[in-house]
Amino acid sequence: MKKIIVTGGAGFIGSNFVHYVINNHPGVHVTVLDKLTYAGNADNLKGLPNNRYELVVGDISDAELVNKLVSDTDAVVHYAAESHNDNSLEDPFPFVQTNILGTYTLLEACRKYGVRYHHVSTDEVYGDLPLREDLPGNGEGEGEKFTAETPYNPSSPYSSTKAGSDLLVKAWVRSFGLQATISNCSNNYGPYQHIEKFIPRQITNVLSGIRPKLYGEGKNVRDWIHTNDHSSAVWAILTKGRIGETYLIGADGEEDNKTVIELILELMCQPKYAYDHVTDRAGHDLRYAIDSTKLREELGWKPEFTDFKSGLADTIKWYQENEDWWKAEKAQVEAFYANKGQ
Ligand code: NAD
Ligand code: DAU
Repeated sequence: MKKIIVTGGAGFIGSNFVHYVINNHPGVHVTVLDKLTYAGNADNLKGLPNNRYELVVGDISDAELVNKLVSDTDAVVHYAAESHNDNSLEDPFPFVQTNILGTYTLLEACRKYGVRYHHVSTDEVYGDLPLREDLPGNGEGEGEKFTAETPYNPSSPYSSTKAGSDLLVKAWVRSFGLQATISNCSNNYGPYQHIEKFIPRQITNVLSGIRPKLYGEGKNVRDWIHTNDHSSAVWAILTKGRIGETYLIGADGEEDNKTVIELILELMCQPKYAYDHVTDRAGHDLRYAIDSTKLREELGWKPEFTDFKSGLADTIKWYQENEDWWKAEKAQVEAFYANKGQ
């Protein structure tokens, strides 16, 4: 694989993958296709050698542009998406446009030119799991995590459009023989994550003198993985995964939101309870948890960043040291939430 296209490569996880590929695989050239929406930032690619990558600013729904780029590549790794649940509850349309029609446009181009395709998706397509405390024996038995066999049951406009895009990929594999794989990953954290998301919102709240905001009681559980580990997993699937297969990516990082917010406050030397409970998210998924046995056993992948507290401390340090990256957007993000009582 000498030339790859990374869609959404100027966003949080996509840019991490571009850094990962350029730093670890010297023979690979990356074309980033990114619309630079509010969530994309060309600075996320700053410092990378110019001869190793090119940024093409454009829309994945633009068939002419997509065909031109795909006709001259070995693989497409598709990260571009509208990615935030809270935005999808306010206006689902861009989610349908980018996540479904954009994916369709890429699939058709890869079919036309016989190009390898990897689809980056989310564990949210499976809906949610009950909280462990509500399960017999505190959920220690079998079947309490998502696997590739779990039925799709998405809850939000965001997750339903991601589920729809996954199903398009499966159909293109079966009906047209597309050379594709799918990965469904749990919640990522790390540097360059947009401050609308839970962890960076709370860190930048503290840095801005605003009390962190916890939805509802904060019992909801997310399965945290460092974004570097997501990147190494996607590379393993792209290069060694079996065509037509789905791999779940996770690092056994389950934490409830209340614990995470209190840990952020502790790491930032604030009183443990200096946060507000705010209006809960509509349709708020209770718990995500990934069983990544298939990925680990078949492809030999394992996560490196398994100490959540130290990963979080490094992430806090990054937002402290990179105020210029997030400061200008803070007031607008908080105004959006304040309007919703969050
Ligand atoms: P992000 O919102 O930070 O970045 C999305 C990127 O896509 C941005 O650079 C944006 O400019 C670009 N983009 C949006 N619409 C586009 C369009 N029409 N054409 C071209 N580019 C467009 O998102 P993220 O958190 O980095 O997520 C990336 C992918 O990973 C998404 O597909 C998401 O569903 C998936 N994912 C995210 C997580 C997570 O925890 N954030 C977990 C699992 C899977
Ligand atoms: O599971 C993978 C998904 O993880 C990805 O597909 C999504 O793109 C990504 O955004 C993320 O979705 P979540 O909705 O889980 O992430 P978010 O950061 O928005 O919220 C994490 C949890 O924190 C969730 O239970 C809601 C809660 N929350 C969020 C915000 C923004 C709060 O309690 N307070 C907040 O201010």
